[in-house]
Amino acid sequence: MMRSILIGLSKSKAMERFVLSNPLARKTSRRFVAGEELPDALAAARGSNQEGLKASLDYLGENVASREDAVNAREMYIGVFDRIAQEGLDANVSLKLTQLGLDFGEDFCREQAEAIVQHAAALGNFVRLDMEGSAYTERTVEITRRLREKSDAVGTVIQAYLYRSEKDIELLLKAGCRIRLCKGAYLEPPEVAFPAKKDVDANYVKLMKILLASGIYHGMATHDPAMIAATVDYAAANGIAKDEFEFQMLYGIRVDLQKQLVRDGYRMRVYIPYGRDWFPYFMRRLAERPANVMFLARNLFRAD
Ligand code: FDA
Repeated sequence: MMRSILIGLSKSKAMERFVLSNPLARKTSRRFVAGEELPDALAAARGSNQEGLKASLDYLGENVASREDAVNAREMYIGVFDRIAQEGLDANVSLKLTQLGLDFGEDFCREQAEAIVQHAAALGNFVRLDMEGSAYTERTVEITRRLREKSDAVGTVIQAYLYRSEKDIELLLKAGCRIRLCKGAYLEPPEVAFPAKKDVDANYVKLMKILLASGIYHGMATHDPAMIAATVDYAAANGIAKDEFEFQMLYGIRVDLQKQLVRDGYRMRVYIPYGRDWFPYFMRRLAERPANVMFLARNLFRAD
């Protein structure tokens, strides 16, 4: 219930104006967002690297309003790869295709993405195409597959809550694609996604096994100790070494567990979002955990 309200509000412009103009909400957002400018994200990546964590930088933004904005986002990401290389950071990039103009045509969007992938490949780096709401799944899979035909510097994300995910994995593995597995963060109807958490979790474990058995390097993105334990157990039982896959978690969430997994010898990548357009990302993080809403409410209504 709370989850649907918050995800619904993540699309409200009035709510966005209210939250963005509220200094305490901005301050609270810093729990999940590294800052509004690239140097903030680079500093967070450097700090993560020093702790033994890899990073993935996400310049926040989705559903851009014009082709011009998409082209600007493309140039921004090309610059991000240059900065990562200059600073010698262990970091790649995660981006959303709607930020590269997917709403303005699949070919247009693929061209923007291809320019970024080529640049990343030239620097020996990697682009992860985040997965958005189910209206975009088919096109994201298709664009990834086409880009992967030309370069191995690109991969995408599969959401365990979607019924279609096993088939998508099959298709993407045939193309040799690296996949990030997550549970899924959007509000989806029961026609396309498992409504019950236990079914999403069961599908996550099932898909994790398919991915780990594929021999391709994938990312298991979750903060759920049960999913992590299932992955650790499956890898150990099947002779899959700790450096043949990585765990991934979001900036500011379960930092204790992130460090523990590094101490246990696993690879861990932290997803570092930054930028001014943090509102929808922030709302999805609140939706994942009611305690986060209380945290925000306490900050918003504090007397000082
Ligand atoms: P679950 O929601 O069951 O949470 C397990 C436990 O983790 C909770 O009990 C709590 O302790 C902790 N936790 C989880 N979320 C928290 C939060 N917001 N605040 C505090 N604690 C929290 N989704 C998507 O649709 N497309 C994408 O491309 C991506 N990309 C992505 C990258 C990375 C690196 C991660 C980690 C996640 C994503 N996601 C995503 C989000 C993902 O789909 C999912 O919504 C969240 O990871 C929450 O699911 P968990 O697997 O953590 O389990």
